[in-house]
Amino acid sequence: MVCEGVSMRHKGYGTRVRGFAFTAVLLGVLGMAAMRGGVAATAQTTGMDASAKSSDPWWKHAVVYEIYPRSFQDSNGDGIGDLNGITSRLDYLKGLGIDAMWISPMYPSPQVDFGYDISNYEAVDPQYGTLADMDRLIAESKKHNIRVCLDMVLNHTSDKHQWFIDAASSRSNPKHDWYVWNDGKPANAPGVTPYQKRFEHDGMVPPNNWVSGFGGSAWEWVPAVHQFYYHEFYKQQPDLNWRNPAVEQAMFGAMRFWLDRGIAGFRLDAIPTLFEDPQLRDERETGGVNAQGDPNLDDSYTNNLPEVHDVIRRMRKMVEAYPGDRVLIGETYLPNTAELDKWYGGAAQDELQLPMDMLVGFHGDHDHLDAAKFRQHIEEAETQIHGAQPLFVFDNHDNVRAINRYGDGAHDAEINKLLAAVLFTTKATALMYYGEEIGMTTTTPTRKEDVKDPIGITGWPKEKGRDGERTPMQWTAGPQAGFSTNQHPWLPVAPNYKTVNVAVESKEPDSQLDWFKQLIELRRSNPALHSGSMTMLDTSSPSVLAYERTVEGQPAVVVAMNFTAQPQTISLDVPGTGVKTLATDDPTLKSATSLKNVTLAPFAAWVAAVQ
Ligand code: NOJ
Repeated sequence: MVCEGVSMRHKGYGTRVRGFAFTAVLLGVLGMAAMRGGVAATAQTTGMDASAKSSDPWWKHAVVYEIYPRSFQDSNGDGIGDLNGITSRLDYLKGLGIDAMWISPMYPSPQVDFGYDISNYEAVDPQYGTLADMDRLIAESKKHNIRVCLDMVLNHTSDKHQWFIDAASSRSNPKHDWYVWNDGKPANAPGVTPYQKRFEHDGMVPPNNWVSGFGGSAWEWVPAVHQFYYHEFYKQQPDLNWRNPAVEQAMFGAMRFWLDRGIAGFRLDAIPTLFEDPQLRDERETGGVNAQGDPNLDDSYTNNLPEVHDVIRRMRKMVEAYPGDRVLIGETYLPNTAELDKWYGGAAQDELQLPMDMLVGFHGDHDHLDAAKFRQHIEEAETQIHGAQPLFVFDNHDNVRAINRYGDGAHDAEINKLLAAVLFTTKATALMYYGEEIGMTTTTPTRKEDVKDPIGITGWPKEKGRDGERTPMQWTAGPQAGFSTNQHPWLPVAPNYKTVNVAVESKEPDSQLDWFKQLIELRRSNPALHSGSMTMLDTSSPSVLAYERTVEGQPAVVVAMNFTAQPQTISLDVPGTGVKTLATDDPTLKSATSLKNVTLAPFAAWVAAVQ
């Protein structure tokens, strides 16, 4: 299986804009006629399920909010966010309208990859609190009607996990086979390249050309066993050997530990990378080197191998045995919708309930607003996944924030609102990232000595790491933006905190925060937006993305968004005599009465009920 786009994005943790390298295939089929001004309306009905059933699982209509625990709220003044900090902000989260939170890893960890290197799966890192704090967070969240999902890192552990310590102690240790080992090959073997020779130990070089997504060879030498182990990410993150059934048993056990404590599901980290080619074949070089100076490879033997689907089917069964619609959310950077469909289990839908669709929110190295691309992706997500539930996302802790990726520098605030309109007005489950709702921006370190994320240190200056999108949540205009009483939070607060913060925006009627709240509330309360079918409108417009949501017996809702910096006039051809605006960030549209000759300001979004 060759997953061109996957490989580029996946290895792309080490690129400046860690956006998925867009597969041009999608563009080829668009062929949109350029039309500005008056737009002839053509409609295309998608195959969405029109009927909202009260039996729908909660996650089908949910807004899920990612919390990076280090950066959300510090409760004990050590400059690092913690679980009690999250608990103290539940009223805020409730007010925002979210249904569930996903907390990035809070397990014991040496914090090389800030928690994605786990040394104990069944405890809480003392930096973040205790197991009792977690139990309290789960219980208090429940009172706020908010579910708690955890991050589950199955591909690798920390090298400080006891399993790996045992595994690396001797070849005969029972844990040895829990990881991926190889003797390597003699450094003087035919075909060994000068690049591979850089990783020579005791006359041996790694068995193949695989590179770590975080830089350097993916193989690390352990003198005690005279072997290399494989690590897709940092060398402190050895990959588990999922071909050994004991690994599955142990990891499913860890998942049960948390499911038994009442969590609502998991976000599965780097889930397509569980398996590697058993023959350890070299990957194809695609030309050039990445920001870490390693050859670009196509990832075909280390990513998205078909074996992973058997594990996922068994995992789904395990999770489904619990009451309350527990959910599996996948970190699934994939090259196209056909690959995404496989992660649902295709027609059988017996794998993940919500693999992330990164094709809508992460377009490529230079994300830009392109109405046709968005239309294409949204249509595909709604028609090519066997009627399963799409999950859209624009922001996370690994990528430059969408406000910066999509922003043009002049209309960033409007663009952030436009993206929110897309996120909350399609049928897709919405996944958002802390701070997105107030328009927090990426603050990339300007000096190498300030960088905390290791890839930003090894990749400097081409790759400055992910600190910029992980800065402390901006609660107030006070010291440390209300994040911590410590004057030295683990990352500096972004300079714009005096104006971009929850306290200020709570009082501004047209703030980002107000817009996010309005849309989330509308999505919950308006029947058509909640669960209506979708019909794309103006399907040939390169400038405006427009669609109608309809549900039987209720007013239809139209959504129109101007993807350009020029005003655009539209005429929407849908049945109905008039409209009532439900939400807009364009003051001139607040009292719109017709669907004809409506002019949208640059990057404006308009949501209106048809009467
Ligand atoms: C994906 C996570 O989102 C990222 O932060 C982490 O570094 C890698 N997986 C490795 O676990």
